[in-house]
Amino acid sequence: MTQRPYVIDEMISAKAIAARVEALAQEIHAHFADTDKLVVVGLLRGSFVFIADLVRELHLPVEVDFLEASSYGNATESSREVRIFKDLRGEIEGRDVLVVEDIIDTGHTLKHVLHLLGGRNPHRLKVCALLDKPSRREVPVKADWVGFEIPDEFVVGYGIDYAQHNRNLPFIGKVRFTE
Ligand code: IMP
Ligand code: MG
Repeated sequence: MTQRPYVIDEMISAKAIAARVEALAQEIHAHFADTDKLVVVGLLRGSFVFIADLVRELHLPVEVDFLEASSYGNATESSREVRIFKDLRGEIEGRDVLVVEDIIDTGHTLKHVLHLLGGRNPHRLKVCALLDKPSRREVPVKADWVGFEIPDEFVVGYGIDYAQHNRNLPFIGKVRFTE
């Protein structure tokens, strides 16, 4: 990707993220309080920071697994193809599963992942997304827990990248092009 010059304006502070992650973990804990084991599935790569913070606030028996999916736009944006690059290591049949996503944008990725994982007959299948851009939705999918609803801005930080940069920022910022 060619890089236009840009600056990053802070949108959600590290402190605000930490407080929200703690609150989300409490709600998720209440929902899964009776579980024998919760399989927390992080969608790579953007969820890696979020999942690390979230599982440390979840005082439940937890197993962590990862899935890498990527969506490709084609001529008709609303029929995007989603490819799986890395599948889960473990079985999820009969298990409680929590999918952890960084951002829900058009919804294609999550729709595909839920279809794939749902076909493996988990006991419960729920979704927690750090960010949601509802105004961008092309297919109707919803997370059970959302950290923050945000407007249609391109964001980076806290695991989320722009052309593989800025994943290591501790806050979430919006990309503003200066030229
Ligand atoms: P969807 O299939 O359009 O919902 O794609 C969601 C994925 O697109 C997210 O998991 C991100 O990897 C990526 N994405 C969407 N919005 C942004 C953004 O503002 N910044 C960086 N990545 C984004
Ligand atoms: Mg992603």
